[in-house]
Amino acid sequence: MNANNDQYVLQTRNLSVYYGDFKAVTDVNINIPRNKITAIIGPSGCGKSTLLRAFNRMNELVPGSRVEGEVLFNGQNLYAKDVDPVEVRHRIGMVFQKPNPFPKSIYENVAWGARIHGYRGNMDELVERCLVQAALWDEVKDILHRSGLALSGGQQQRLCIARAIAVQPEVILMDEPASALDPIATLKIEELMQELKKSYTIVIVTHNMQQAARVSDYTAMMMLVDEHSRSGTVIEFDETHKIFTRPSDKRTEDYVTGRFG
Ligand SMILES: Nc1ncnc2c1ncn2[C@@H]1O[C@H](COP(=O)(O)OP(=O)(O)OP(=O)(O)O)[C@@H](O)[C@H]1O
Ligand SMILES: [Mg+2]
Repeated sequence: MNANNDQYVLQTRNLSVYYGDFKAVTDVNINIPRNKITAIIGPSGCGKSTLLRAFNRMNELVPGSRVEGEVLFNGQNLYAKDVDPVEVRHRIGMVFQKPNPFPKSIYENVAWGARIHGYRGNMDELVERCLVQAALWDEVKDILHRSGLALSGGQQQRLCIARAIAVQPEVILMDEPASALDPIATLKIEELMQELKKSYTIVIVTHNMQQAARVSDYTAMMMLVDEHSRSGTVIEFDETHKIFTRPSDKRTEDYVTGRFG
């Protein structure tokens, strides 16, 4: 492995993503640093979720979807012929906008994935560790056998994060993980992300620019390629403080200062 691969966990090479004939994302070249939080921001429909889903081959679950170019994970192309997409999604987990716990107990929500992936250690310990890491343990330790669906929205989202980390991924992709939550639950998720980045790399899509500025180390600014196009691309990728204070692209400046559109 060369130095680049150590520093960057995910790298895209001329990545474009299609839905049938429609090219939703055009020619993205970015390097996602390890153990950092990278935010993807930009207006609605510019391809943020599409790009995020290309990072763990979730886009393939949409019929007719395909990619051109490469996504390197630790230097290896995720889209190479011999790569198993199930294994990819195991190592690169995802948390969605709407909390989606399984209709099972809190305990089982965390244990299930680990069991499927052949975890042989002490399951009680694993469940506790993941719930502690997800900042949920104190709230649920006495009700582990109650349904995950009986929790509040913010608790459900932390349960989904506990479920994601139970299979020991390297990367956690989050698509607007707090947009369905109230400000207090949102703050909890943001604090949790700061803890999680010690062990994982996080890529978060967010509509909320204050959130991007608060939580992320790096920011990818996406926009439509031009006003005649419905295809989006990353127009600027840099350290978050730079994107928000001294962006090099005028469109980024207009967007982050609210002058967009
Ligand atoms: N399953 C799909 N089939 C066809 N087109 C799709 C599909 N999903 C998204 N698109 C299109 O791809 C483009 C990018 O969509 P995407 O959901 O990635 O945008 P986004 O930046 O995440 O938007 P938002 O901020 O509203 O979530 C849009 O033009 C959208 O209509
Ligand atoms: Mg989206």
